[in-house]
Amino acid sequence: MRRLSELEPCAQAILAREREVYAARNPRSRAAFERSCRVLPGGVTRTLCHFPPFPCQSERGEGCWLVDLDGNRRLDLFNCATTLILGHCPPEVLRAVEGQLGRGTAFQTNTGLETLLAEMLVSRVASVEQLRFTNSGSEGTLMAVRAARTFTGRPKLAKIEGGYHGSHDSVEISVRPGGSAGGAADAPMAVAGSAGILPEVVGSTVILPYNNLGAAQAILAREASQIAAIIVEPVLAGIGFVPAEPEFLVGLREEARRYGMLFILDEVQSFRLDRGGAQRLFGITPDLTCFGKIIGGGFPVGAFGGRADLMALFDTTAGRGKIPHAGTFNGNPITMAAGIATLERLTEPAYEKLNGAGDRLRARLRALGGQYGVPLQATGIGSLWKIHFAETGIRDYRDALKASAPLHEALFLYGLNRGLFIGPAGRDCLSLPMGEAEIESYLGVVEAFLQALCA
Ligand SMILES: Cc1ncc(COP(=O)(O)O)c(C=O)c1O
Repeated sequence: MRRLSELEPCAQAILAREREVYAARNPRSRAAFERSCRVLPGGVTRTLCHFPPFPCQSERGEGCWLVDLDGNRRLDLFNCATTLILGHCPPEVLRAVEGQLGRGTAFQTNTGLETLLAEMLVSRVASVEQLRFTNSGSEGTLMAVRAARTFTGRPKLAKIEGGYHGSHDSVEISVRPGGSAGGAADAPMAVAGSAGILPEVVGSTVILPYNNLGAAQAILAREASQIAAIIVEPVLAGIGFVPAEPEFLVGLREEARRYGMLFILDEVQSFRLDRGGAQRLFGITPDLTCFGKIIGGGFPVGAFGGRADLMALFDTTAGRGKIPHAGTFNGNPITMAAGIATLERLTEPAYEKLNGAGDRLRARLRALGGQYGVPLQATGIGSLWKIHFAETGIRDYRDALKASAPLHEALFLYGLNRGLFIGPAGRDCLSLPMGEAEIESYLGVVEAFLQALCA
């Protein structure tokens, strides 16, 4: 097996070459980016959309393909951060949206569509008795955390190092602390993930190391009486969709119950793994669950739900509810119609197709790493995966930090110039329209990259 230090100079050379090719082939995207920069800081309106030398601008999506302003056609392996499980413009979603467009796009009253989508989610997810819709996953986690603080009367939130739960202050902590900033691996420190977060908020956050139950138990025991909830993703997306080791997740659930904390499962991304969510796969019953992404069928969405006695905090039948929950576009009928049409398509065979293809793909990637002697780790589960160029396996955030950034960036640009849109952070997912031919074309580009790297 080659060492990363041996491969990195070659990756830098590939990167320099591919940047030039990209710049030459994307003049319209460059001009669009320069224009955007005048009115949007950094030319984008979402941090993750930027990549150097400049991001391409999408002109349209077709199934599993993206077409940019310069006419480049690329396989969409990012799917708007795992959202587009049916790909772009699925006909049944378009029909549902077009039908609703003619009936109205925003109302102050229920339209019945929110009830229907809520019924679908409640029937699929065993732990969810009631739920509320929001406009984003961030708002969903915000409300779930507020519910936990209200219900328990405790101030603190425990979260996983490297876990992303949205952009609000309570959870934008220790999402990607650099180098030694996070303290000891088995006793991580809370680190603000953004300027402008008050020290009191950082001080109200307890950080747990992923997949290290013993260390997490010791940390929770120290602060138990102050902690309102543990929030955790069953599959830690930020480090490459690394599934929680079952005993870790079950152990955390038990600790929460033992100390009277709520257990919040963030299924914003992992809900694409199973009809009943990852909680069904892991056999775990959270108190509250957060949703987003696929449940809006490609439109802005989020939701939080769970035990009826907790959701009663939002009940407005006898006053304003203990926790006010506003949001002009909550349960927007276009989003709801798209979400219903999407979930209707997500039958057991659809999940089997996606998850089976994902399993085969990860096995092939690992085999390619072995064949070329490149230290390649393919993490993920079901239809979600990430390639890390790393010499050791990835179980937690600290492991993920050891992966090579130049190799990753070189693969990203190499792919962009050869018909792939890999997630800028390397997190990829399948969509239903992707067939064997598309998956083979992806693997072919990865193999060509490994060849170039070893040349
Ligand atoms: C696990 C998880 N939770 C919450 C969020 C926040 O969702 P949104 O971007 O819709 O606010 C995300 C977004 O990527 C996520 O991956």
